[in-house]
Amino acid sequence: MIIVSDVTKSYGTRILFESVSVKFSPGNRYGLTGPNGAGKSTFLKILTGEIEPSNRGKITRPKRVGVMRQDQFAFDNEKIIDTVMMGNAPLWDALKERDALYAAGEFTDPIMERLGDLESIVADENGYMAEIDAAEILRGIGLTDDRHNDLMKSLPTDYKFRVLLAQALFGNPQALLLDEPTNHMDLDGIHWLEAFLQEYDGTMIVISHDRHFLNAICTHIADIDYETVIVYPGSYDDMVEHKMQAHTRMEAENRDKAKKIAQLQEFVSRFAAGQRSSQVQSRRKEMLRLAPTELKRSNIQRPYIRFDQNKAPSREVVTVKGLNKSFGDNHVLKDITLEVARGEKIAIIGPNGVGKTTLLRCLIGELRIDSGEIRWGHGMDKGYYAQDFADQIDRGMSAIDYLMQYETGEGYEIIRGLMGRMLFSGDEALKLTDNLSGGELARLKLAQLMIGKPPVLVFDEPTNHLDLESVNALGEGLSLFEGTVFVVTHDQDLITDVATRILRLSPGEFLDFHGTWEEYLEQYPLLEREHHGRKG
Ligand SMILES: Nc1ncnc2c1ncn2[C@@H]1O[C@H](COP(=O)(O)OP(=O)(O)OP(=O)(O)O)[C@@H](O)[C@H]1O
Ligand SMILES: [Mg+2]
Repeated sequence: MIIVSDVTKSYGTRILFESVSVKFSPGNRYGLTGPNGAGKSTFLKILTGEIEPSNRGKITRPKRVGVMRQDQFAFDNEKIIDTVMMGNAPLWDALKERDALYAAGEFTDPIMERLGDLESIVADENGYMAEIDAAEILRGIGLTDDRHNDLMKSLPTDYKFRVLLAQALFGNPQALLLDEPTNHMDLDGIHWLEAFLQEYDGTMIVISHDRHFLNAICTHIADIDYETVIVYPGSYDDMVEHKMQAHTRMEAENRDKAKKIAQLQEFVSRFAAGQRSSQVQSRRKEMLRLAPTELKRSNIQRPYIRFDQNKAPSREVVTVKGLNKSFGDNHVLKDITLEVARGEKIAIIGPNGVGKTTLLRCLIGELRIDSGEIRWGHGMDKGYYAQDFADQIDRGMSAIDYLMQYETGEGYEIIRGLMGRMLFSGDEALKLTDNLSGGELARLKLAQLMIGKPPVLVFDEPTNHLDLESVNALGEGLSLFEGTVFVVTHDQDLITDVATRILRLSPGEFLDFHGTWEEYLEQYPLLEREHHGRKG
């Protein structure tokens, strides 16, 4: 059980949530929701104790809390099995220190004493079983024993995240906290995760913007909005309906109240100076009693995303002939040939690790190809939104200063206006890039692409981190764009909104389909479990 009592968090004048008191019980799976920047990651970090509330609010948490980390590169040079064991930090530190002392081979009295202490930590933490336990979890996430001693960097992205999940689960935590675990997973991975998490019987809290995922696993939703956290029983869809009804009801009540107040007010103004003073008094009281409930504004907002292109470019955008690309003996892209004309919107789909990012990086010239040809038309500047774009945004400067680096004569005011449309209004534009949430960083990167006005936009998984409103806005912006788009995505609704052509990569196969997603589905119906989209 995790108990939150009277917790407030604010940054400067901005209140994220105020006097929150909620309970998270074992056996329940809570989805933590709210738009980008609502304070979900912040709330989770308060739950783990990584950051403090702004007031004297309190958190009661179980002894062991497993947290799934976001940084997929952090353990690249560690062995897979070690990465899992690091999930129990006191144990891991003790094991490391013990091994180092034995290796040094110097057994003075103080060192022997220290070794004794370390052995008792290892015993307390069930350290003699650690490797066996870790191996067991690894088998559970689908990694056979022969892989356990490989380095993390040898794994494809989705498996790295599975290992990070294993790390969080190591040592049987009574609570499990996950921040956007599906971001780097393809549909198979997401379905695997859903089934896996259903088995967990402690207290689970998971942040996600994927409503299908939330509907599949959550027993409750904890929603951050109206400057507080409200727990609703049921799925994500139940929460949205409940929330809308509550809001409509409150608005209707307020309208009724306002009408009554107006009538009373009329009576009061008419007779205030007259002889019916007691009646006027009682009506005044009644008016005070009726004061409408103050409706806090919901923080759900939609950015306004539009991409223009600088110059009218030539009709031929790019011609690819016989492209081959291998990494070692892994022949990722085989003999790819393709011609792209102006205005085409190309969705690139396929499972994790199949080479979608590699294709994009070859196209924009970031990777050298082994053989074949890629010829871009004249003036085809490319705007690239990388999968790990967040690492490429300079830190230690304000959001507006970051964007001003890319300004091409528009000037401060225009950029400020653009930022407002991307939901960085007022002081929000002055925030440090270090402090921005995942979704805010994504909006900043999109704003950067909007300033550049390139005729070709290349996106690698742009919907990761973005909330539903922003994904819709991106779909609208891309479908109205007159230039050419390449977009790698698992989001079927984005593909529906945008794509005029589908490239499907799968191991050993390359399909180039000229048509929309609807037309594609007529020819290649998806398996039932692949249905994953954001709209109902
Ligand atoms: N140290 C800080 N100083 C000022 N503002 C901060 C700081 N840390 C976070 N913020 C702001 O607090 C808000 C909440 O951030 P948080 O990362 O919790 O959002 P989130 O709900 O997880 O969003 P996302 O869905 O984009 O991940 C954001 O607007 C963020 O910019
Ligand atoms: Mg977050």
